[in-house]
Amino acid sequence: MKMFLQNLLFFLFIITKGSTEYTRPGLRPSVSWQHHRSDSDPQQVHISLAGEEHMRISWITKDRKVESVVDYGKTAGAYNESAVGGSTSYRYFLYTSGEIHHVKIGPLEPSTIYYYRCGGYGPEFSFRTPPSAFPLEFAVAGDLGQTEWTESTLAHIGARDYDVFLLPGDLSYADFLQPLWDSFGRLVEPYASTRPWMVTQGNHDKEAFPIIYPQGFRAYNARWRMPYQESGSTTNLYYSFDVVGTHIIMLGSYTDYDVDSDQYKWLQSDLIKVDRVKTPWIFALVHTPWYNSNRAHRGEGEKMRKSMERMLYDARVDVVFAGHVHAYERFTRIYDGKADECGPIHVTIGDGGNREGLATSFKKPSPSISLYQEPSFGHARLRVVNSSHAYWSWHRNNETDSPVADGTWLRSLSSSAACNQTLSQSKFPKDEL
Ligand SMILES: *[C@@H]1O[C@H](CO)[C@@H](O)[C@H](O)[C@H]1NC(C)=O
Ligand SMILES: *[C@@H]1O[C@H](CO)[C@@H](O)[C@H](O)[C@H]1NC(C)=O
Ligand SMILES: *[C@@H]1O[C@H](CO)[C@@H](O)[C@H](O)[C@H]1NC(C)=O
Ligand SMILES: *[C@@H]1O[C@H](CO)[C@@H](O)[C@H](O)[C@H]1NC(C)=O
Ligand SMILES: [Fe+2]
Repeated sequence: MKMFLQNLLFFLFIITKGSTEYTRPGLRPSVSWQHHRSDSDPQQVHISLAGEEHMRISWITKDRKVESVVDYGKTAGAYNESAVGGSTSYRYFLYTSGEIHHVKIGPLEPSTIYYYRCGGYGPEFSFRTPPSAFPLEFAVAGDLGQTEWTESTLAHIGARDYDVFLLPGDLSYADFLQPLWDSFGRLVEPYASTRPWMVTQGNHDKEAFPIIYPQGFRAYNARWRMPYQESGSTTNLYYSFDVVGTHIIMLGSYTDYDVDSDQYKWLQSDLIKVDRVKTPWIFALVHTPWYNSNRAHRGEGEKMRKSMERMLYDARVDVVFAGHVHAYERFTRIYDGKADECGPIHVTIGDGGNREGLATSFKKPSPSISLYQEPSFGHARLRVVNSSHAYWSWHRNNETDSPVADGTWLRSLSSSAACNQTLSQSKFPKDEL
């Protein structure tokens, strides 16, 4: 029966695909990554930006007595600096996590390789800090999961240099099975321990359970701590940071966003503080797309869009990245459903490779505001060349390489005489500012 359904789906796929030359590959199996080091050794090491000159190092040990200390320095094997942080753990039904350590190190120099060791045990890791000036390159992919496709996406991301990874939600697809968070941590360690991974959360990261865990995000918040305190937020579920002339806003699609909410007020205070001379670019990430011409998840981002779009528009946010829909789609500049030269570009990049597979069906004909649609796994690069120009490219996963399937130059809104303004200069209702 299963075989029959698969064949039927494949047949439908072939006839709907028509005559395009590209043969889209199918699902690939989930993979599990085991722990091979000792109990005191670090596992699931990942790093994140924590203020402009600092990095947060996060790792997990089975052994609860390991100290939350990171030794680091600019020479391999010789760590002349050291920093101490704290640790936490969490329970989820019968599961108890290992000891989750978070240590902030710095001040660090730009464009510098640092070597580090976690908790005084185990292997040496290294990372490179972002540069102090443009160019700056981001890698972007959402909805990763942990399948052979995820491995493929990560290999392509790692195969070419970049400075910071941006993830618009849905990390592990653990979906309540907590050991899968550990497996995911081990899968991404080779990448996430060498470049900062800046993430926001998706629906698969929530894992809410009525009465017992009504708020959700237990594993996500404990394991993937982001610089929310550094950006004046009171929760790990939304925050912002600056890196080399860019201001990045991470929003929570599954936490309150209406005009009375804390998130809305925080966003407003954050956007008012942006100095467009210091950070000529502003990028925002959400999980659920506000614009989407795929048949999957249609309209799910509409309430959040209605609440927050005006503020992002008035603050001249350059691009809004989303995940959730397992495909790639790039829109033109939009405000309130219509093309608008001062609105953000919207991009859906939920194509990291999770076990649910691709969202293959786009509305036909595509709406005029949607410029490119493709249901394939892959990742994107955003190379910010200077204060006015950035190159965006989307790379489809392939066996051995990741060819560019879509690419375009972006101009910053702060460099446009017609659009250049800040939130406080806008006509945004003054009593709200
Ligand atoms: C560690 O060494 C670097 C040079 O490699 C130096 O700049 C730094 O001041 C040293 N730190 C300490 C605590 O000695
Ligand atoms: C920014 O980069 C673009 C593309 O390389 C170039 O055409 C432009 O002249 C640069 N602008 C400045 C101010 O350097
Ligand atoms: C990989 O790319 C090559 C050339 O770009 C193409 O011929 C081949 O079909 C691609 N394979 C997959 C699996 O996409
Ligand atoms: C944009 O506005 C800022 C501050 O008002 C100003 O310094 C800058 O010159 C303006 N840029 C353009 C391209 O108009
Ligand atoms: Fe999702």
